[in-house]
Amino acid sequence: MSAGQDVLRAEGLGKRFGGLQAVQDVSFTQRRGEVLAIIGPNGAGKTTLLNLLSGVYRPSAGRLHLLEQDVTDSPIEHRCHLGLGRAFQIVRPFPDMTVHENVTVGALFGTPGTRLREAREQAWALLELTGLAPHAEKAAHDLTLLQDKRLEVARALATRPQVLLLDEVMAGLRPAESQEAVGLIRSVRDSGVSVLFIEHIMPVVRDLADRVVVMDQGRVIAQGTYREVTADPQVVSAYLGTEAELHA
Ligand SMILES: Nc1ncnc2c1ncn2[C@@H]1O[C@H](COP(=O)(O)OP(=O)(O)O)[C@@H](O)[C@H]1O
Ligand SMILES: [Mg+2]
Repeated sequence: MSAGQDVLRAEGLGKRFGGLQAVQDVSFTQRRGEVLAIIGPNGAGKTTLLNLLSGVYRPSAGRLHLLEQDVTDSPIEHRCHLGLGRAFQIVRPFPDMTVHENVTVGALFGTPGTRLREAREQAWALLELTGLAPHAEKAAHDLTLLQDKRLEVARALATRPQVLLLDEVMAGLRPAESQEAVGLIRSVRDSGVSVLFIEHIMPVVRDLADRVVVMDQGRVIAQGTYREVTADPQVVSAYLGTEAELHA
């Protein structure tokens, strides 16, 4: 079996909220080193799926494997220790701490037993990687939106993930800024992390994703390269009449 290369494997994942089936029968795999995008119209179930992957929710159906371990019933912390990291759509740093301190905290808590000196050094390296080194001594509340997103990615990376989950990190960025954010995600990938991201800005998906999973009404309606899925009639019709531009 060549399954050793899968970092994530979802098999028939489902999540029901009362009468609403938010995610239904979702199956996909992410190979090591692959950048995987999850797209779909508003309300398709993308964020719920991410919450199932990270352990915020337990699925009402299906199994999830992370790095070949069954984590279907594992809490967030266990997944984090196995190698799953997550940056949130809503950025939540410690506002009065400096940028460097924020990332140091991530390094300290992300890997139990990490010494302060080690954590501080690791934080510096991540500030270099994410382009935040010049702002290291600023208070987190003084950052711009783009810098905040960089910080959120740096904090997620501080837990030394092998897989990083990103939920609409480009939201609110101007086009030039989202190009910078694309560069940031490429650096993360080049550092050896497999990235799974939700994004509604199609040029970003086109530029970054090795493979795309398309959701609509809780289900996966297509998977493949950007080119393949955007040519799929089912995908085109799912996007018809929505705000998102499929062929941007
Ligand atoms: N905690 C929740 N409780 C009840 N319904 C929810 C909850 N979270 C999401 N939903 C519903 O599940 C569906 C999918 O939502 P979501 O996963 O946020 O979609 P997306 O991220 O693709 O926009 C929506 O109909 C949403 O209203
Ligand atoms: Mg969402």
